[in-house]
Amino acid sequence: MKEILRQLEERRAVARLGGGEKRIDAQHGRGKLTARERISLLLDDGSFEEFDMFVEHDCADFGMADQKVPGDGVVTGWGTVNGRPVYVFAKDFTVMGGSLSRSHAKKITKVQDMALKVGAPIIGLFDAGGARIQEGVDALGGYGEVFQRNVLASGVIPQISVIMGPCAGGDVYSPAMTDFIFMVRDTSYMFVTGPDVVKTVTNETVTSEELGGASIHSTKSSVADGAFENDVVAMTQVRRLIDFLPQSNRAEVPERPFFDDQDRVEMSLDTIIPQNPNMPYDMKELVLKTVDEGDFF
Ligand code: HXC
Repeated sequence: MKEILRQLEERRAVARLGGGEKRIDAQHGRGKLTARERISLLLDDGSFEEFDMFVEHDCADFGMADQKVPGDGVVTGWGTVNGRPVYVFAKDFTVMGGSLSRSHAKKITKVQDMALKVGAPIIGLFDAGGARIQEGVDALGGYGEVFQRNVLASGVIPQISVIMGPCAGGDVYSPAMTDFIFMVRDTSYMFVTGPDVVKTVTNETVTSEELGGASIHSTKSSVADGAFENDVVAMTQVRRLIDFLPQSNRAEVPERPFFDDQDRVEMSLDTIIPQNPNMPYDMKELVLKTVDEGDFF
């Protein structure tokens, strides 16, 4: 029995390394955390229960039979945020750029199904290049299953996407269908395909930032609901957002302790809005002074 447990721990250690130490170092070098580091910041300490850690792809084309990594580029499971359950999947860029195979898609649809059944939010952490090119139509079919569940979950459970690296193809189409989309400044991009492919196909030279950086999506296209400084701030802010949300359309909004004075009178509210409707005023100041403890997301 001890021997079996030792082997299991060995296999777990290999799976936790994803694409290997060199690629993890490269990930850190780009100012990004790994999928597992992100999950540990997002969830309450020790609450993460991982599923399907040893799942591998079943593709044999283009030499893929020799390129199997346990977990297949996505870490999935559930845990809690301030005690409330959430389901989570985090793309692992160190494994074939986090690209989606048929098996990888099955891991994601499994947590989507569970979140829907239980009635709990689902959070996707994206850092991935879309459909795994080597799998072709099998990967595209996998996305079909993910997209279908995005539609079924819409209006039923909160769906939150955080774009935390260069994301292309299905890894932006699916987030685009979710309720909240956040990005990380300077390290995350949302585009149909990357600048190199754009150059090859259209001969147009464009930077990642111009094509789909946080500055574009949070100020021009309005695809993203917010952009944060780095991975740590992004995970902290998602935890804060979860605190405001109901678990599902069957649940009440969460009750939180509040420390504001119920009799607080904010005299400046009488004067913030100018008499002249053509004069501008700071709407955020108005909101912050109105809500409890100035706590506004
Ligand atoms: C297989 C992929 C991959 C993909 C990246 N990789 N994307 N492998 N399928 N889609 C691999 C790379 O080969 C590389 O492997 C490693 O991930 C890191 O990628 P790099 O290119 O070195 O990183 P970077 O320069 O940061 O560029 C990231 C990127 C770029 C912008 C995401 O890789 C890119 O443009 N990829 C292709 C994007 C794309 O067109 N995807 C198809 C979308 S179609 P090594 O071994 O060298 O480390 C789609 C359709 C959905 O998703 C619709 C469904 C109906």
